[in-house]
Amino acid sequence: MRSDFGRTTKGEAASLYTLKNRGGMEIAVSDYGAVLVKVLIPDRDGNQQDVVLGYDDVAGYESGTLYFGAAVGRIANRIGGGTFELNGRTYALTQNDGQNTLHGGTDYFDKRMWKVEEADDSHVALKLYSPDGDQGFPGAVDIRVTYTLTEENEVKIHYYAVPEEDTILNLTNHSYFNLSGHASGSILDQEVMICADAYTRADAESIPTGEIVPVEGTPMDFRSRKVVGREIEADYEALIFGQGYDHNWVLNGSGNRYAASMYSDKTGIEMKVYTDLPGMQFYTGNFIVQEKGKKGADYRRRQAACFETQYFPDAVHKEHFEGPVVRAGQAYDTVTTYQFSSQTSSV
Ligand code: GLA
Repeated sequence: MRSDFGRTTKGEAASLYTLKNRGGMEIAVSDYGAVLVKVLIPDRDGNQQDVVLGYDDVAGYESGTLYFGAAVGRIANRIGGGTFELNGRTYALTQNDGQNTLHGGTDYFDKRMWKVEEADDSHVALKLYSPDGDQGFPGAVDIRVTYTLTEENEVKIHYYAVPEEDTILNLTNHSYFNLSGHASGSILDQEVMICADAYTRADAESIPTGEIVPVEGTPMDFRSRKVVGREIEADYEALIFGQGYDHNWVLNGSGNRYAASMYSDKTGIEMKVYTDLPGMQFYTGNFIVQEKGKKGADYRRRQAACFETQYFPDAVHKEHFEGPVVRAGQAYDTVTTYQFSSQTSSV
């Protein structure tokens, strides 16, 4: 179902597409930024909870700077120094995070109108044409992001793109989840598990040093489910640099697999993350200072967590990190699934 989502400052009419399944789950996606605006799921008492942070209309997404629900590209996360080399040429990008590039550079994909190619009750496919030189990256590319809501309560996000020239691509979704409800406050009492034996150490600017550090014996160990707040204040380099969790975990295994989960004991809502990508940035909203959100919500620090599946940050400068290079005519084709349930015993 399509509804109006307001007009951008340029006068473009934005829409909201609502998808529903028989189990009472509902999600909403806008063609502005291909953002995931709502994820509604009945909790264990049957009350509908919206578990993602966001805004009421397009104006909020236009002025917001925190990437709520955003489709991020061409390269999610950071590129050290804001430049990279490909096929012997050096490309200069926007330095929008100190000297580094964050989420493609300021001409963000989530600040553009996407074209809706298909939409029905269970899926919406959005397309963005990114020309040669867009954000400084080579090679024109049509990017398609498809959101599907399944009867198994999965929100499936499929990214598909075939560049005309060799380029680099690393798309992600930047939803901020709070499984007690988007306006319920801190997530420090919610439980998280991450299927990763290691994480990529990063410097004070969040650029990986290249070291793969085992999580064993550190506060980064989420291999067994634990409450987010248990060690978040520990005197540990990564947590000091990130002011909380804000790192890339090296997901175990390969292919489409279970990567992480989050659980709220207040609502009984659990989310499981599946992806075919090698890494995932787990970010605990450390830099949400104060943000007005949906229905008058007042979002603050650590009131949500992001599970940004991706190739490792700065992979383009690290030979041993699986690369985001996509050759001309080849498909960049990846799926991340967020699956929800609200049974108390669903582990
Ligand atoms: C971006 C990243 C997050 C986090 C914040 C910090 O949003 O995607 O993981 O690093 O920046 O501001």
